[in-house]
Amino acid sequence: MNKAVHVFIGVLMSISAFAQSDPNLGIIPAPVSVTKANGNFILDKTTILINQSIDGARINDLLNAFIVSRAGFALREATISQPNQKSILLTSAGADKLPDEGYTIKVNSNQIVITGRGAGLFYAVQSMMQMMPEKTGDKIMIPAVTINDYPRFSYRGTMLDVSRHFFPISFIKKYIDQLAYYKINTFHWHLTDDQGWRLEIKKYPKLTSVGAVRNGSIIGRYPGTGNYLTEVKGFYTQDEAKEIVKYAAERYITVIPEIELPGHASAAIAAYPSLSCFPDRDTFISDKTAWAGSRKGKQVQQTWGVFDDIFVPSQNTFNMLNDVLDEVIAIFPSKYIHIGGDEAPKTYWKESPFCQALMKEKGLKDEHELQSYFIQTIEKHVNEKGRSIIGWDEILEGGLAPNATVMSWRGEAGGIAAAQQNHDVIMTPGSMGLYIDHQQSESPDEPVTIGGLAPYQKIYGYDPIPQVLTADQRKYVKGVQANMWTEYIKTTNKIENHAFPRLMALSEIAWTPVERKDLKNFSEDRLPVHLARLDKMGVNFWVPTPIGQSEKTLNGGDFVIDLKVPIIGGKIYYSLDSSRPSENAFLYTLPVKVMVPKGEKRVLKTIVIAPSGKRSVVTETLLNNGAPEVKAEAKK
Ligand code: ACM
Repeated sequence: MNKAVHVFIGVLMSISAFAQSDPNLGIIPAPVSVTKANGNFILDKTTILINQSIDGARINDLLNAFIVSRAGFALREATISQPNQKSILLTSAGADKLPDEGYTIKVNSNQIVITGRGAGLFYAVQSMMQMMPEKTGDKIMIPAVTINDYPRFSYRGTMLDVSRHFFPISFIKKYIDQLAYYKINTFHWHLTDDQGWRLEIKKYPKLTSVGAVRNGSIIGRYPGTGNYLTEVKGFYTQDEAKEIVKYAAERYITVIPEIELPGHASAAIAAYPSLSCFPDRDTFISDKTAWAGSRKGKQVQQTWGVFDDIFVPSQNTFNMLNDVLDEVIAIFPSKYIHIGGDEAPKTYWKESPFCQALMKEKGLKDEHELQSYFIQTIEKHVNEKGRSIIGWDEILEGGLAPNATVMSWRGEAGGIAAAQQNHDVIMTPGSMGLYIDHQQSESPDEPVTIGGLAPYQKIYGYDPIPQVLTADQRKYVKGVQANMWTEYIKTTNKIENHAFPRLMALSEIAWTPVERKDLKNFSEDRLPVHLARLDKMGVNFWVPTPIGQSEKTLNGGDFVIDLKVPIIGGKIYYSLDSSRPSENAFLYTLPVKVMVPKGEKRVLKTIVIAPSGKRSVVTETLLNNGAPEVKAEAKK
């Protein structure tokens, strides 16, 4: 401790006390309204589960499986109420008057009445599971309460890129389970890109035999410090994709497939070079890129970025893409098919005599209009099949396809422009924290990412409705999405680390009325409980840094370090001597007073260790009493 003095002061209320007094009863996303009453419902072995809903036995199974896991016994099931019998009643009576996906839960000392149908009833059960405290003895005490709930947005999405790295079906299901728990209802599956084509297309087998395999990947950020020289391959069979669609649908999640066009097409072009403007031209590979295997011919990309070799807008290409989309449409029943549309450089189209002649023939004034022609040609086919397209906001350039929905990723501008043109919009701006491949803190302990800083608090602070829109235009904003690009995410553990707790923040901005948002309640009362649950379930997550710790320099002489543990059952350890904290450092239990002598400084370093042993990054706070200003070590 050198010359600084630190002592324990005060008494800290335990996190569980915070959780019990939580006005949202631990539910994420926070419901529209929670009205507590006096008394409790005591769930025990005599409680009956009565299902009078239109939703059948699956909803019973869901609730009862949870009760078994929590209480150690299942509830007896019935369809008819019995007077004076303590019961949980699932009903659809009156549910048609609720908003879409809405539900109510009414708890009194004798009965819990859960009203909803379809997604609404399913979400009611998710909320029930979240509000049910741990068992004491053989009883679970549920506070008397009335909950009215329904979503703010109909589209609550998250995208997973399985092209840059491939992830197995078993993981996709595990991930979908968590999405359902947080009332996220759309899984956008980014199935094709330059680095791999990941969906079986029966008519074009080379898309996967060639396009789903690459020989290596660069190490570190572009242009990389070498190449891993290890093959990355994998694709989903159509049966597997259908299995995911069904699995998701059982959890009221729609799977939206994305087939990228006309750019991000290297893998498809490697499989079928005739899709390129220049079929005989080798794939461009920079001299700076360490490459595994041959550099000749068309190659599946091993590095990240944007590539000039995009689909040629020929009839051959349209025929093939229409065939591909027909197979995609047969697998995925979603209203929307995502057709990409982003980051398509026009270099090859400018060079291509074919493209230039086509532009002249069609009266297109530039290559942006040619892209618009490309997208509109595809849209026409998709619309003929009874579906609609979504595209990234570049589809605005050169003129929006008539029925397209725009996914606004380059800030909010694309979303605003599309809504002003009366087109539906999904907001997913990277600049607002919705790119969850970005880093979660500034600690040097963070794993390599693509860059950018998007802590969950930033997502939480985002309102998907741009203020500049008129009341009429606002109704075109259908929802919000977080995107998980996987250039730098090679493992399922790292996906989970990037996803949680950020997807909980996403769920709240997608579901909860804006005036009900409360970051303090979210971070301090509810997240600690939810993270402990993930910890127990073997889901990886980013362990938050101590609540109340500043990453900025604090100036003064006497400091009170007043922290809260961000996960139930977790521990904070700290050092004041510049050593890296671990279980061997001081255990934080109570606020600590640190007196730094005049002209000196100390670095407070903390680490949070979850019950499973999972660790946070080390967080540093510089405590400075007039010493020459230096940056805290974490900021190096
Ligand atoms: C994107 O991030 N290129 C949509």
